[in-house]
Amino acid sequence: MLLKILLGFLCGVTAQQSPPPLLLVSFDGFRADYLKRFPMVNLKLLYSQGVLVDELTNVFVTKTFPNHYTMVTGLYPESHGILANNMYDPVSHQYFHIGEKNDPWWWNEAEPLWVTALDSGYKTAGMMWPGSDLPIRNRTPTHFLHYDPGVTFKQRVGNVTNWIIGDGKEVGVKFAALYWEEPDKSGHFYGPDNTTAMAKALKEVDDNIGVLVSELKRTGLWGRINLLIASDHGMTQCSTERLIRLDDCLQPDSYTLVDLAPVTAIIPHTDPKAIVDLLNKCHTHITAYLKEDIPVRLHYRNNIRIQPVIVIADEGWTIVQRGNKLRKVGNHGYDNALSSMHPFLAATGPSFRQGYHISSLQSVDIYPLMCHLLSVPPQPNNGTLTKARCLLAAETCLDTGLVILLMVLQVVLLVLIMAALLYILQRNRRRSVL
Ligand SMILES: *[C@@H]1O[C@H](CO)[C@@H](O)[C@H](O)[C@H]1NC(C)=O
Ligand SMILES: *[C@@H]1O[C@H](CO)[C@@H](O)[C@H](O)[C@H]1NC(C)=O
Ligand SMILES: *[C@@H]1O[C@H](CO)[C@@H](O)[C@H](O)[C@H]1NC(C)=O
Ligand SMILES: [Zn+2]
Repeated sequence: MLLKILLGFLCGVTAQQSPPPLLLVSFDGFRADYLKRFPMVNLKLLYSQGVLVDELTNVFVTKTFPNHYTMVTGLYPESHGILANNMYDPVSHQYFHIGEKNDPWWWNEAEPLWVTALDSGYKTAGMMWPGSDLPIRNRTPTHFLHYDPGVTFKQRVGNVTNWIIGDGKEVGVKFAALYWEEPDKSGHFYGPDNTTAMAKALKEVDDNIGVLVSELKRTGLWGRINLLIASDHGMTQCSTERLIRLDDCLQPDSYTLVDLAPVTAIIPHTDPKAIVDLLNKCHTHITAYLKEDIPVRLHYRNNIRIQPVIVIADEGWTIVQRGNKLRKVGNHGYDNALSSMHPFLAATGPSFRQGYHISSLQSVDIYPLMCHLLSVPPQPNNGTLTKARCLLAAETCLDTGLVILLMVLQVVLLVLIMAALLYILQRNRRRSVL
């Protein structure tokens, strides 16, 4: 009897200590309003049984690498060190270029969740998520595949579900992050305003979500894992009519170019202030900043990898060095205050509420949410669980309207009680006077 109670107690403890596996999936470049413009039946069915965040406020620059690293660290790019898809480090004199073999050292300013979760005794996996095939602070996730755009979505999901299940001998993975290139690729090629092309691309994305759900059902994981579907950034339409030529503004030999569009990073060869003034006088649809004047709200200042001069193009404008060629019909990277740059977040699984929705969340808040779901102590980060908590089944969360109403009611009640007390006091006094 005692043994039974003890066993029951121990099982209770282990159940508590072993949260459901967590799978984070990113569909690159999924602009939030695609959800309103296109049918997305599988995705809508998924979050109707879970939660939806209409718009994620992502981080500046609204590019793929900085935002994917933010999701798994909860840090602004100035604090995680992946500040752009193309970077220069003035201390080591090294360049970083997306799509090339870069030294893993670039990622070491932060520790992604797939590394931190190893310390909780979990196995983790990265499926082509930026950075997940590199030793970061000397560690990779337990399983990963090197980036290969030729590996289909189904193959990526197939590997990930196998890793989560584990085999007879090995326990499965507790946290996995899976990356897919669309609808970013089509968004760049056709532009988000091309409804015909985007409808086709998003139908494929939705079919892939269907593949994901049926694979999870086939393997018995559906309903037993927490699933987050998110994206890194949105997309906006560009045009050859909205080109800004740097060489029309600056002497070509007066600067070194580190990154180009739509946020240009420049190392001036002459007085930086003079360069900034020239740029701001040159074109009304760019804003050039000295590093120390970059608006605080962008959280894009405190890192040596941010160059002395930064130029930000207005939405839909493309900065080129020279010529008339527009290489991307759609682009992103612009100010993260722009709605067109925002992605979405959907989630489902045992820890989430069902049929719940909120209008916005910061993308830095995804990290503390994931740590909470996995019971992993978070690394220092820029997010908070305050708002994301409301998405969880176990939390009683009141929306702001209701909170305000309750506060008003409280005040009214207090006033009534005070009035009643005063009245009684007055009456008693009058009585004693009489
Ligand atoms: C895992 O990915 C590889 C490609 O690297 C692929 O050949 C294989 O079929 C995938 N496995 C599953 C179960 O889908
Ligand atoms: C939109 O995309 C389709 C391909 O789906 C292409 O044929 C068409 O030319 C594009 N339209 C515009 C205006 O670019
Ligand atoms: C973001 O978090 C890091 C790590 O705690 C901290 O160093 C940094 O100051 C934070 N940034 C902001 C803007 O609070
Ligand atoms: Zn892109």
